[in-house]
Amino acid sequence: MQSGRWRQVGLVVAVLALVLGMGGLPAQAKTTNKTVTFGQLTNKNTHRLAAIRQAARQQILKQTHAKGSKVAAVYKVKLPKHMTKKATLTPKGLRMNLLSNSFKVKQITIPYTQLKGKVLNRYLPKANRTKAVKTNKMVALTFDDGPDKTLTPRLLKTLKKYKVHATFFETGQNVSRNPKIARAVLAGGNEIGNHSWNHPDFNSIGTAKTVSQITRTNRAIYQATGILPQYVRPPYGNITAAEGRAIEQPIVRWSVDSRDWAYLNKTKDINEVMKDTRGGDIILMHDIHSQSVAAAPTIIKRLKAKGYKLVTVSQLLNHQALPGLQYFGAHDYRTAGK
Ligand code: NI
Repeated sequence: MQSGRWRQVGLVVAVLALVLGMGGLPAQAKTTNKTVTFGQLTNKNTHRLAAIRQAARQQILKQTHAKGSKVAAVYKVKLPKHMTKKATLTPKGLRMNLLSNSFKVKQITIPYTQLKGKVLNRYLPKANRTKAVKTNKMVALTFDDGPDKTLTPRLLKTLKKYKVHATFFETGQNVSRNPKIARAVLAGGNEIGNHSWNHPDFNSIGTAKTVSQITRTNRAIYQATGILPQYVRPPYGNITAAEGRAIEQPIVRWSVDSRDWAYLNKTKDINEVMKDTRGGDIILMHDIHSQSVAAAPTIIKRLKAKGYKLVTVSQLLNHQALPGLQYFGAHDYRTAGK
């Protein structure tokens, strides 16, 4: 009886090994194709659909090995805006047919890794589903206005030394001047967001110019790193509702302002951050001021001593940030423009 059961187990293991060996697929991946509507994938949520469109743009660029000069063109490709349109769940990802476009691409397959938090969990393989995370001991450090030729590499060394990651909201102008440093930011396991081309106040330039600022910066970041940034942080935190809808990227604000730009003083920067920070916070700093970069080691040490884990914005928001919404922390998001 006992040995018979073990023989059965052995047989199951052998069959599994064979299936895995042949297909090269994880045991839980679906092996058949299934047609679904975007309404099903998103539960008819237009923010989720906008997130799928953004993932599709990245995939078109990747699939065609496009140069940075094609980034503006990718925003002209017609992508699904109606919930009744269909796509196919395949073992490799979400397959979509495209209307005729300048990239001459008829079909793309967006890997499920790119759809985590955007598509409802039930349509994703287990490995790409979001799980509830406890953010009461997590904070995200963010650094704006770089990359700076000397200060950003110095900050990257600090982050590496303390084994923590941060998010950098960079201007397109500075990325185009320092593409190597932008690559080093990502190579260190950090994240890059879009902070406009040259730091205008979006509230006063109108939607067309705002979109152009964002697209030009996406292009610079893609040209430097091969990746379209997920998030936008508008300069001064200012953005109108119409602009927020038009850019089709999640907006990331902050909940703790270090006021480092006003203080330009290491001790004051440290005190301001330590006074205000709670779990789930997004902390605003700038890697273009030497005092801020000098304050970073102490801030990191003290936050760690309080038990906080320093994570990227994506980790803090559990990959669930969506276009048209703006995020002030792990538990505070509002419609763009509000
Ligand atoms: Ni700024």
